[in-house]
Amino acid sequence: MLDEWLPRLGIDIAEAATASCDPRTLFAPPLPTVWLEVGYGGGEHLAAQALAHPTTGLIGCEPYVNGVASLLRQVAEGGQRNIRIFGDDARLLIDTLADASVDRVFLLFPDPWPKVRHHKRRFIQPGNLDALARVLADGAEFLFATDHMGYARWALAHLTVHPAFKWQVEVPADWREPPVGWQPTRYEAKSIAQGLPRAYLRFRRLPRGAV
Ligand SMILES: C[S@@+](CC[C@H](N)C(=O)[O-])C[C@H]1O[C@@H](n2cnc3c(N)ncnc32)[C@H](O)[C@@H]1O
Repeated sequence: MLDEWLPRLGIDIAEAATASCDPRTLFAPPLPTVWLEVGYGGGEHLAAQALAHPTTGLIGCEPYVNGVASLLRQVAEGGQRNIRIFGDDARLLIDTLADASVDRVFLLFPDPWPKVRHHKRRFIQPGNLDALARVLADGAEFLFATDHMGYARWALAHLTVHPAFKWQVEVPADWREPPVGWQPTRYEAKSIAQGLPRAYLRFRRLPRGAV
């Protein structure tokens, strides 16, 4: 599976210069809209979003090799033509992407690193938020979900002080319930089975002129 499908769908950044890659051109033919998922795990969410949005290019980043194989299996069965895979740390790929070139980023049930001394390993950090703000287009969306309320508070604390992001919330259901168009993830299903609370936080990338 890996040998046959990865060369077709894998993204190679070996020669990519910083901030040079227009991700729309990673698809053949190029697609007008690109969404990126950081840490797709088993790939169920990415595969389902690709089926539901055939004219959107879906880029999945996941260093876990079994996750890559799982997603490739789903693509082989589902026939999605709008998926590309980066099998490494998402930050390496993000650094190669052009400014304002991504229309949505998903960070779903990321490792919460609950111990205080490990908080620095959480994906949500000021430097990573700056990198996401650079590649997100004006008005684009950053969607974060977690079942770890400490990480939810951490995300809010970092994103609500970041000048490029605005939390999209009016009523409690806006963060307690999955947003419109939601596709389930494997870790979300585990969390539901364990009866854990979950937070679904949506942020808008503010227009550059307004920052
Ligand atoms: C707890 S799992 C959640 C998987 C999936 N999003 C879900 O909800 O089922 C977190 C995943 O993020 C991946 N991950 C962690 N840091 C990453 C990074 N910097 N870039 C890409 N993936 C990362 C891990 O390998 C792991 O598969």
